[in-house]
Amino acid sequence: MDYHSEFRRSIDKPEAFWREQAGKIDWIQQPETIWQATDNGHGHWFPDGTLNTSDIALDANVRAGLGDQKALIYDSPVTGAKRSYTYSELTDEVARFAGALKAQGINKGDRVIIYMPMIPEAVIAMLGCARIGAVHSVVFGGFAAHELAVRIEDAQPKAVITASCGIEVTKVIEYKPLVDKAIEQASHKPDFCVVYQRPQARAQMHDGRDHDWSDLMASAEPADPVPVKSTDPLYILYTSGTTGKPKGVVRDNGGHAVALKYSMKLVYDANPGDIFWAASDVGWVVGHSYIVYAPLFAGCTTVLYEGKPVRTPDAGAFWRVVQDHGVNLLFTAPTAFRAVRKEDPEADQLARYDISSLRRIFLAGERLDPPTYEWLREHTQLPVLDHWWQTETGWAICCNPVGIETMVTKPGSATVPSPGYNVQVVSPGGSQMPAGEQGQIAVKLPLPPGCLMTVWGDDQRFQDSYLKPIPGFYSSGDGGFIDEDGYVFVMGRTDDVINVAGHRLSTGEMEEVVASHPAVAECCVVGAHDEMKGQIPLGLVLIKNGATIDHDELEEELVEMVRDRIGAIACFRRALVVDRLPKTRSGKILRRVIRQIADGEEYAVPSTIDDPSILEEISEQFGRPLSKKH
Ligand code: COA
Ligand code: AMP
Repeated sequence: MDYHSEFRRSIDKPEAFWREQAGKIDWIQQPETIWQATDNGHGHWFPDGTLNTSDIALDANVRAGLGDQKALIYDSPVTGAKRSYTYSELTDEVARFAGALKAQGINKGDRVIIYMPMIPEAVIAMLGCARIGAVHSVVFGGFAAHELAVRIEDAQPKAVITASCGIEVTKVIEYKPLVDKAIEQASHKPDFCVVYQRPQARAQMHDGRDHDWSDLMASAEPADPVPVKSTDPLYILYTSGTTGKPKGVVRDNGGHAVALKYSMKLVYDANPGDIFWAASDVGWVVGHSYIVYAPLFAGCTTVLYEGKPVRTPDAGAFWRVVQDHGVNLLFTAPTAFRAVRKEDPEADQLARYDISSLRRIFLAGERLDPPTYEWLREHTQLPVLDHWWQTETGWAICCNPVGIETMVTKPGSATVPSPGYNVQVVSPGGSQMPAGEQGQIAVKLPLPPGCLMTVWGDDQRFQDSYLKPIPGFYSSGDGGFIDEDGYVFVMGRTDDVINVAGHRLSTGEMEEVVASHPAVAECCVVGAHDEMKGQIPLGLVLIKNGATIDHDELEEELVEMVRDRIGAIACFRRALVVDRLPKTRSGKILRRVIRQIADGEEYAVPSTIDDPSILEEISEQFGRPLSKKH
């Protein structure tokens, strides 16, 4: 089968196409109905099928004879630990943890928040929830207590599962005080917490509420996988939107399993027994899909790496892991290799390791800049493949479909739409743009299986954010173009979402924090270019009349506030005091122009600007020459 005919079939005959893919997973009850439109303008995949995601990830592989094969390899340069679990061992651990949760009163449909570092217990907790039909919501460990509280408030979990600490290079970050603070802040109180105690820090336990992971496991009875409907939620994963309130992306069980299994072949050409390493974090969608679920659905061995690309201990860390575990397929964010390249520009570290097991390198999470692509190609001599997707979609919207046909790579392009995604570039009015012209990237409905069902607790927000902007389409929030050969070029977000080191953050949310400082009259936060992290937030602040605070002091306080409310991961380090902010005549802040000036890019003076002379003032404050487009 070639790519074009597979793609056409997926668009022209989606039900036949996905029925065939659905046949490749172990359902408890095979679905008769493949697609059912719903009245929110979207629909459900495989609505009458039943299955269990933990069964598909684990027990099904044991039944297929892979019980003694490694399912998970844990490699932790920050603690020196290395261990692995076979499919049989991981199944037993997950069944016992599921049993422990059940014994504590967790049932199908209950929410469980998981706030954990990159340790096997995080994976066991996720799969344990799936086994009993509980809905997990993993919160990335780099988020502050306030962010965790917001998610507790929204998801209303019955339980929070955490560990005593995370380890960031050499810093031990205690998680339990953050969990306690978040629970204190939220009006919803979980019934109980489970705490995995690590030797690097011991958590203080609350009598009657907190349980030690090891104690629960010691007395737990293993739980069997419970049947859930294809359309029952598997997880909620919060992601940044344009406002301060994150969106809880809801993923189903059936569509997710079918799509992810398909993606392992299509996008990564992975086969059972392959060693698959997604160097990300379970707190992000890349971690959900390609550390935990998809590699196990495909009978691969997944690598869980608790470390960084650099400093743990050096820029050879990735190559060392590839060598030690015989990694065949590596997936990470471009920023990780920008960090490696910065420390080891000639790739001297690479020469110290044998990476002959590696077949391909995959990158996503942010735009793959051509210099990083070229550097990786030149030094590894391996295929380097960009693919574009989002928390909302759960798997690649565009990729190089190497599992069916390897396409020529064009640097700067995420290649072609994955089968199932009818990708189009449209104008704000919804008409299709000619080849080569930029517009909004949208996907004609229906979306394929695996994509979000709704926004948790707020279907109206789901419709308003994704379906209403361009009727008949899913709005991706990214802008770009499709060239004459059908290659998709993603140029960046068209909203207030920024991408810092492959992490998606909301400038709107940072603005809310900055604006809450008593000396701040008005502010805006834009994503300025950064050599290593792609973008970093930059605040522009107007001080209230009569406020006398020193500018450096104000900056320090604002940096601390963002760290405290959102987390260190926001990388908010600069806030510049300005006299005025450029606005349109209707009062809208011209963020795009501010960003262009900060980056020293050429910009056009918007015709709607209230007072163009402000742009010169801002340029001077940034110390940038003006580069107006004429
Ligand atoms: N728990 C607690 N704190 C965390 C954390 C976690 N899980 N992850 C990051 N942080 C903290 C860091 O310690 C740092 O704090 P600091 O300001 O006190 O130093 C801050 O958040 C910023 O972290 P990070 O963006 O990771 O910056 P870095 O300089 O430590 O490392 C990179 C830079 C590029 C090496 C790193 O971002 C990286 O490996 N990125 C890979 C991208 C990736 O995995 N993306 C996920 C989607 S694919
Ligand atoms: P997240 O939901 O955190 O995965 O972030 C999704 C966003 O990251 C997308 O909307 C894009 O803006 C960006 N992104 C992800 N992958 C790519 C890619 N390959 N090229 C360009 N941008 C990307």
